[in-house]
Amino acid sequence: MPFYNNIVILTGAGISAESGLDTFRDKEGLWAKYDLMELATPEAFSRNPDLVHEFYNARRRQVKQVNSNAAHMALARMEMEYPGYVTIITQNVDDLHERAGGINLMHMHGELNRIRCEGGCGAVQTWRDDLGRETVCPSCGKAGHLRPHIVWFGEVPFHLEAIDILLRECDLFVSIGTSGSVYPAAGFVQTARAFGAKTVELNMEPTAGRDVFDEGYYGQATEIVPKFINELGP
Ligand code: APR
Repeated sequence: MPFYNNIVILTGAGISAESGLDTFRDKEGLWAKYDLMELATPEAFSRNPDLVHEFYNARRRQVKQVNSNAAHMALARMEMEYPGYVTIITQNVDDLHERAGGINLMHMHGELNRIRCEGGCGAVQTWRDDLGRETVCPSCGKAGHLRPHIVWFGEVPFHLEAIDILLRECDLFVSIGTSGSVYPAAGFVQTARAFGAKTVELNMEPTAGRDVFDEGYYGQATEIVPKFINELGP
């Protein structure tokens, strides 16, 4: 296997599926059960904050009940042991990469365990409990201005400038457990490829963007991710 100086990994909900967290677009996915326009947009939040808070409170409670899986752990091990740079860009808002030991992580869609005060101080802080309209901001003491630190549809994902530099400089781009349905993440493979990276898709099944990738490996993440990483060397 060749040596790679800069590896960029993009993960999606599929890497956390075997930990027991719902994906979004599978048959039983979140968007098959709920209307994202009522739960995952700024307009939905201003229209019905209690409903949106409850949706994210339920997901925040659920994440506490599950654990990282072999795919998260294989990536964390790779970060520690692979002699080149490894960056994990995740679309996921769970903390399963962190709990597996992942360090060099970018949560481009935000995090369930972080909240943001929109009312005054703008502070982003860790928060693992339920959140509601009356919750008082730990930083400024104001109530009624806290929201999940999650990127909703129609909002700009985090870290895009840094991600663009990483994609241009990487020599291996690996997409894991994402349907490639949502931009800008779905376009990352094109940027990496345009700047000369080798591109690999690891997923349960081939995605619509399969033909853009140089290689594809398909199956359960807990099987194909450790196998792929073992074969990568060093
Ligand atoms: N192993 C590997 N892949 C899996 C597994 C598994 N056990 N289970 C499901 N998958 C794959 C599915 O085949 C699917 O292609 O994971 C992918 C999940 O796709 P989505 O449900 O669309 O999730 P994701 O790509 O992360 O969605 C992107 O959309 O709604 C927004 O903000 C949300 O971050 C999310 C973004």
